[in-house]
Amino acid sequence: MTFLVVPLADIDQNQMKKLAGEKAVEQFVKDGMTVGLGTGSTAYYVILKIAELVKQGYKLKCVATSIASEKLAIENGIEMVDLNEVDHVDVTIDGADEVDPKMNLIKGLGGALLREKIVAAASVEEVIVVDESKLVEKIGTKVSLPVEVLQFGHVRTAFGLRRQGCEPVLRMKDGKPFVTDGGNYIYDCKFENGIDYLSFKETALDAIPGVVENGLFINLVRAVVIARKDGTVEIRE
Ligand code: 5RP
Repeated sequence: MTFLVVPLADIDQNQMKKLAGEKAVEQFVKDGMTVGLGTGSTAYYVILKIAELVKQGYKLKCVATSIASEKLAIENGIEMVDLNEVDHVDVTIDGADEVDPKMNLIKGLGGALLREKIVAAASVEEVIVVDESKLVEKIGTKVSLPVEVLQFGHVRTAFGLRRQGCEPVLRMKDGKPFVTDGGNYIYDCKFENGIDYLSFKETALDAIPGVVENGLFINLVRAVVIARKDGTVEIRE
């Protein structure tokens, strides 16, 4: 399904993110739902749009995939609940770093992959919002795969990652290792020719002692909302 949104001139990446985020909320969020809030600069617009619905009177409960998204949601008047207090999430709307034609993903460049995967697994529907720059023919060809690891023994864990055919690089921030909301480190793993046998690789990476989670999201997605620079939005289901 493709929607035309008055394309007077090409729109920039930020406008595409806003378009995708808002369209996803309009299409998939209904009054009374429990909604998972993604993380990142596209999910930002999702959260603001959900806040608009709440102001209009929608009764929504939301679960966040990161401390940053939770803070943004609370600041904008959205009621938050603990994932442990709900038996399921109706729909989660989140961003992605790569999307292939089968709607498999790489996520985690924003560092929230662990909570994002837990919330996705608890969701009846996982909806992904992206601009067209995130589309790839093969997963792992544009970005490195983020893998969250325990701090304890992380250098040993990286040896195991390397044996999976990638070059792992410890993510840094302000001269120190980047620490996730869960208190872990992230290795960004570059696969020279992209990633083959995605399900197998997802399982193999998670089997390495010290690995907490990896950023491959395989067969988890119900729909991808794609904004293009000509102002159109495609919903792929
Ligand atoms: C955070 C994520 C984000 O969803 C992903 O990085 C996309 O972010 P953005 O919308 O800012 O490009 O996985 O862990």
